[in-house]
Amino acid sequence: MLMLKIKRMRKIFYLATVLLGFSCTTAEIPLTGVPIDRTVTYQRDIQPIIFNNCLTCHSSINPANGLILESYVQVKNSAQNGNLITRINDGANPMPQNGLLTAANRALFDKWKVDGYIE
Ligand code: HEC
Repeated sequence: MLMLKIKRMRKIFYLATVLLGFSCTTAEIPLTGVPIDRTVTYQRDIQPIIFNNCLTCHSSINPANGLILESYVQVKNSAQNGNLITRINDGANPMPQNGLLTAANRALFDKWKVDGYIE
């Protein structure tokens, strides 16, 4: 009787471990490995980073490569359909050109994408 109970409890414990394992592995892991546990928005998080690091070259006055990153729609379009997120994480050919942004700042772009590019 007792043996049976122990066996059943073992089974439950095993199942719980497996389920827990699954729920952990399916969580989205950001490229940078820096976890962010809140919603990221363009206005609060992304715009200031673009303003401080990109607009010297990507504003409407003589934009590098024709890429303008002044508005929400322009930045979202480059992140969603262009290669903005690839380039800010590209150690060999980074944007901005003088070196990668901090991991914390790059993680904000990953989370912005996961959250659905909220304005
Ligand atoms: C000092 C000038 C400079 C700064 C600052 C700069 N860029 Fe660029 N960017 C360029 C130039 C020049 C190119 C074209 C050459 C290339 O692709 O490397 C370019 C190309 C790009 C491209 C690829 C081309 C395209 O049309 O998609 C992306 C994406 C990009 N930049 C995003 C950014 C982002 C995001 C930032 C800020 C985090 C930034 N850049 C900061 C000069 C700059």
